[in-house]
Amino acid sequence: MNEVSNSHGAPASGTPLNKVVLASNNAGKLREFAALLGAAGIELIAQGELGVPEAQEPHPTFVENALTKARHAAKLTGLPALADDSGLCVRALRGAPGVYSARYAQLAGGEKSDAANNARLVSALQGQTDRRAYYYCVLALVRHADDPEPLIAEGRWHGEILDAPRGSHGFGYDPYFFVPSLHASAAQLEPAVKNASSHRAIALRQLLARLSEEA
Ligand code: IMP
Repeated sequence: MNEVSNSHGAPASGTPLNKVVLASNNAGKLREFAALLGAAGIELIAQGELGVPEAQEPHPTFVENALTKARHAAKLTGLPALADDSGLCVRALRGAPGVYSARYAQLAGGEKSDAANNARLVSALQGQTDRRAYYYCVLALVRHADDPEPLIAEGRWHGEILDAPRGSHGFGYDPYFFVPSLHASAAQLEPAVKNASSHRAIALRQLLARLSEEA
């Protein structure tokens, strides 16, 4: 297929994308994203395979961090790039841990681990009756590093925070994240079920819809 190129030699808005670099070295994400994007004819390559190091995530919003990561990968590879940023947002904690989900305990002087993060979460919600929370994911796709029209998609997966862990699948806050519509915690769901319902899946479906609108 002949791609229309702009002055950067990269595909312009409205041009089908056939090869995209994923700005993450997480093998699970690559599998999940590659499966859905492959169905849309997009080949996904992990940035690590192209020698791209992890970018910093210095911003206070998910969308800024996702865009920063996508631009970084596009700049170093010359390819269109897709990045995600995600976290857990708890209503009674005014959206915390939010963008700091991976470092929630560390920011309070604890260690950087899922166990420490979950312990801080449970303690922060002790005695709290409003347990509402959602996982949030934003995806940013840039056609080139200076793309003025990045495609942005987002997904929210609603649930409630438990006092005690349930289940052993997943990672992060999953044992404490109960999904009422599925009558299970995220860690009790088979990976295929989680991957079809999660904030990442919702955001990816939105991104695919945007891409097909463009085609
Ligand atoms: P990242 O965007 O993949 O770096 O995720 C940031 C952090 O958000 C992770 O380290 C987890 O603490 C949390 N998180 C994001 N998605 C999930 C999920 O699906 N399950 C559990 N924790 C998650």
